[in-house]
Amino acid sequence: MIQQSSTSAAQAGGVAAPPPTGTVRLTINGQQHTLQIAPWTTLLDALREYVYLTGTKKGCDHGQCGACTVLVNGKRINSCLSLAVMHEDHDITTIEGLGSQENLHPLQQAFIDHDAFQCGYCTPGQICSAQGLINEGRAHTEEEIKEHMSGNLCRCGAYAGILNAVKEVVDAKSNEVKR
Ligand code: FES
Ligand code: FES
Repeated sequence: MIQQSSTSAAQAGGVAAPPPTGTVRLTINGQQHTLQIAPWTTLLDALREYVYLTGTKKGCDHGQCGACTVLVNGKRINSCLSLAVMHEDHDITTIEGLGSQENLHPLQQAFIDHDAFQCGYCTPGQICSAQGLINEGRAHTEEEIKEHMSGNLCRCGAYAGILNAVKEVVDAKSNEVKR
C-alpha cells in the first residue's frame, strides 16, 4: 500500500504531521535545560521560544546584526546561525546570566552610566559581544574596540556611548585603551 506523504496530505486538505523532535540538553547560565526540539532549531530560537530567555534578541536572523550574540564557552557567537543541538556540552551565557537587577555586571552598569542605548534592542547583544571581546583580550585601542564590535549594529546610533562604556570596563580590567 502506498502511504500518503505529509505534504500531499496537507495539499489534500489533511493535517500535516508535526515535525520530528529530539531531546537536547543545554547548560544555560549555569542551569541545565532538557528540551524537546526539532533538530534544525537554532540556538536563538531554543533560548527564546523554549527556555523563555528573551533577553537575547532576534534582529535579522541571518548573522548580520549581532542582536542575537551570546557567549558559548566564553566566546561570542551569533546564536541565529548555530543549531541548539551543536551545544550540548557547552557553557552558554546569555545577558540574563551576566548579571542581575540586584547585581549588575560592570558592562551593564557602564552602559547605563554612558547612555549607551536608546531603544535597547541591540543592547543585550552589544554587552555579550563586549564581554566576548574582553575575554579575547584583543581590544587595546579605540579603533580595535570599534573594529571588534563592528558585527553589532545599533539602529539608534548609540555607538559613542557604547564605545565609552566598553572602554571604561576594558580600562578597569587593566587592559589599557590607548587613544
Ligand atoms: S539576529 Fe543573529 S545576527 Fe541578526
Ligand atoms: S539602542 Fe536601539 S538599536 Fe541600539
